[in-house]
Amino acid sequence: DPSVWMKQGLLMLSRNTALRDVLEKAPVSRSVVKRFVAGESTQQAVEVAGELTDSGRMATIDFLGEDTLDPAQATYTKDAYVDLLTALSDVGLTQGGQVEVSLKLSALGQALGADGEKIALENARTICQVAANAGTTVTLDMEDHTTTDSTLGILRELRQDWPWVGAVLQSYLYRTEQDCRDLAHEGSRVRLCKGTYKEPESVAFQDKSDVDKSYVRCLKVLMAGQGYPMIASHDPRLIEIAGVLAATAGRGPESFEYQMLLGIRPDEQLRLAAQGDRFRVYVPYGDEWYGYLMRRMAERPSNLLFFLRSLATR
Ligand code: FDA
Repeated sequence: DPSVWMKQGLLMLSRNTALRDVLEKAPVSRSVVKRFVAGESTQQAVEVAGELTDSGRMATIDFLGEDTLDPAQATYTKDAYVDLLTALSDVGLTQGGQVEVSLKLSALGQALGADGEKIALENARTICQVAANAGTTVTLDMEDHTTTDSTLGILRELRQDWPWVGAVLQSYLYRTEQDCRDLAHEGSRVRLCKGTYKEPESVAFQDKSDVDKSYVRCLKVLMAGQGYPMIASHDPRLIEIAGVLAATAGRGPESFEYQMLLGIRPDEQLRLAAQGDRFRVYVPYGDEWYGYLMRRMAERPSNLLFFLRSLATR
């Protein structure tokens, strides 16, 4: 199936540092990433967050970057989050958790050898404390399966001080239904997505339909539990099923939320927000957009066409 090859190829390219270095520096690329990325500066991220809240949506902001092998870069990322949270708080956007942040632990040092986990944990702690002072929350993104145990371990540590720290779980992993059971308790914020990395058959479902079925099983566990489910998907079928499961579980609209990525299905985002559901947009910003954008391309050929067309027409 050519579409599967293309997806695998793009996911492989998403880890290609040579191509990344060329594209991230090319101004032509910068103009076409705009649809999916808020901009490069803190100020631009704050502006986009303000526009979203004005339209009745909430936001979670991600400072782009991942897989850092440089301790200074991990510190730089931590500082960027501190600046961002301070800027958001100054304009009142963190109030009531309207705008929160999402962290990739690999950008905060998780992969820095033997001390990596400790470094990432310390950086995440600093960010959580600033978020707490600003009155908002933090959610840990989930990266490839080699990091899942480590990330859930760091989640447990952080939750001892800040029980509102949330995590992402990916329905393509066989383990995730059990992880949902473990995390479906009171106060636990779980963002359920399908998963976006290239994973082997030994750990992950390969067929889209199996990933979707697993998503529904995970949703059932989360909706029936005591936690706060965050339905992170653009899939109309799954969104409909989530609504039915929430009603069956007797959940009110304040006890869960829908989430989508910036630039994807904006009309549907507004529709869900307007019908009284809690809705949050994931907003990436910063200049390290390459890996993020390549994963979006791999998910949807029309995104790739959009990207190529913008390159061609400039
Ligand atoms: P999928 O890509 O299978 O699409 C299903 C259907 O949705 C399509 O058939 C179409 O109907 C509709 N659709 C999708 N894209 C569309 C478009 N551009 N226009 C119109 N319709 C469209 N992943 C991860 O591994 N770790 C993480 O931490 C996160 N974090 C995260 C946060 C949030 C808030 C979101 C929304 C997603 C993530 N992801 C993630 C990414 C996630 O795993 C997944 O790769 C993407 O969301 C794409 O999967 P969908 O659920 O949208 O379904």
